[in-house]
Amino acid sequence: NQEKIDLLNKKNEEALLGGGEARIAAQHKKGKLTARERIHLLIDEGSFQEIDKFVMHRGKDFDIDKEHFLGDGVVTGYGNINGRLTYVFSQDFTVFGGSLSETHAEKICKLMDMAMKNGAPIIGLNDSGGARIQEGVNSLGGYADIFYRNTLASGVIPQLSGIMGPCAGGAVYSPAITDFILMVENTSYMFVTGPNVVKTVTQETVSAEELGGASAHSTKSGVTHFSCANELECIQNIKKILSYVPQNCEDIAPIYPYELKDDESRAVLNDIIPDNPNHPYDMREVIAGIVDDSSFLEVHKNFADNIVVGFARIAGRSIGIVGNQPQSMAGVLDNDASIKAARFVRFCDCFNVPLLVLVDVPGFLPGTDQEWNGIITNGAKLLYAFSEATVPRITVITRKAYGGAYDVMNSKHIGADLNFAWPSAEIAVMGAKGAAEIIFKKEISESENPEAKLQEKVDEYTAKFANPYRAAHRGFVDEVIFPAETRAKLIGGFKMLENKVDKIPRKKHGNIPL
Ligand code: COA
Repeated sequence: NQEKIDLLNKKNEEALLGGGEARIAAQHKKGKLTARERIHLLIDEGSFQEIDKFVMHRGKDFDIDKEHFLGDGVVTGYGNINGRLTYVFSQDFTVFGGSLSETHAEKICKLMDMAMKNGAPIIGLNDSGGARIQEGVNSLGGYADIFYRNTLASGVIPQLSGIMGPCAGGAVYSPAITDFILMVENTSYMFVTGPNVVKTVTQETVSAEELGGASAHSTKSGVTHFSCANELECIQNIKKILSYVPQNCEDIAPIYPYELKDDESRAVLNDIIPDNPNHPYDMREVIAGIVDDSSFLEVHKNFADNIVVGFARIAGRSIGIVGNQPQSMAGVLDNDASIKAARFVRFCDCFNVPLLVLVDVPGFLPGTDQEWNGIITNGAKLLYAFSEATVPRITVITRKAYGGAYDVMNSKHIGADLNFAWPSAEIAVMGAKGAAEIIFKKEISESENPEAKLQEKVDEYTAKFANPYRAAHRGFVDEVIFPAETRAKLIGGFKMLENKVDKIPRKKHGNIPL
């Protein structure tokens, strides 16, 4: 009997070594952690339960049957993150370069099925040379089995992808379907075709890092939501995101203890809006003045910075924030900003995270670049995403809410629950100067002093429309509030909406303009 115990011990030890000590050393030399070290950092001490530790591949070609490693290049299992059940798979680059064989894929699929049945998030830590070349179509089939499950799980359980090494070819499409991607700077990359193929097909010379590193994908393509300085930061960000979201779509996010103060007013908010309406300010300052101290986790920070999105807490409860950013391109909506915000709104709505929308938007960005890249379709994504969201939705107009962008930014008309405006709000079809130039064109040009006439008309338009009161008269704004009282109003508002029940008409699924 001792012999049998010894055999199990031996196998366990062998599995822990992955592709062996030399390959582990090579992994460390590249500045990367091993699959198991990553899990150790991610999962609460002592809570990890591994499954399928002894699974081996079934490949027979190209002599691969002469080499087997227990676990076949991916560590799978479950455990707790801050006490909450989470499933994790972590690809082991020391075993056949973390490449995906039929059995490697089966392990991941088994875990995804468990996560779905038991309603808990799943984290994928990707570090892989792609399809196991020796297995051909078996491996491709394995990828598709994963993509299919990613799609079925979308909106049911949160899915997060940490990219900690190569992720190329078909492999990119699993992370792409998940809710959030986090990449590690300098040691990870994602692309559909690598630098060699790019060179052959387009004659472009580009490095892997330039083509698909964390920097490229966090700033240019928007593929990754977080660019992390190192693996530890990446893992910490994964844990942070989870702290704002529920276990599944039937659940609500964790509530942090918070004791309401007698006075929740924040005087600092009174001084943020500059006297000159054309001067910028940082919407993040408004956010900091509203949410619980240091609770804002910005998502997609380096992409489309004319809109700010992220998670925060207000009186201990999770919210998702979407805010125009006057500091970048005056906060206009363009293609990238619309897509970025729409995706975030849809995540929040999937997982019962209430939305706070901060509005200071001069409109949509004009130009051929925008039109030819589909601002009509892309702007519609954001409009659609807000309109179909059934979570509690509150809007605060801090300054400009012009034109169609007023409608899009969670207006009353598309189902927002509470719409507040600051006294500095200007809710109109456009800015006063542009408006006066159009509607009084003739009067101005025929006047003896066109400049003075223009100014007179600008003043007239400003007095009539550059304020929140016209909208408040109609009930399109529920209340004009003092900036300092915003936090208190929102705490009360979200509390009032706590048990909101809203349903969209029964359908198979909508047809969001993609
Ligand atoms: N299938 C099978 N084995 C693979 C593999 C794959 N797709 N990718 C890597 N490996 C193996 C290598 O043979 C090597 O094995 P060894 O440890 O026994 O020598 C090990 O993984 C490490 O690979 P190596 O090339 O030495 O690492 P690297 O860090 O220099 O390069 C890659 C990493 C991913 C860039 C490189 O391995 C590569 O280009 N792989 C192929 C990618 C691909 O085309 N995949 C298929 C399309 S999806």
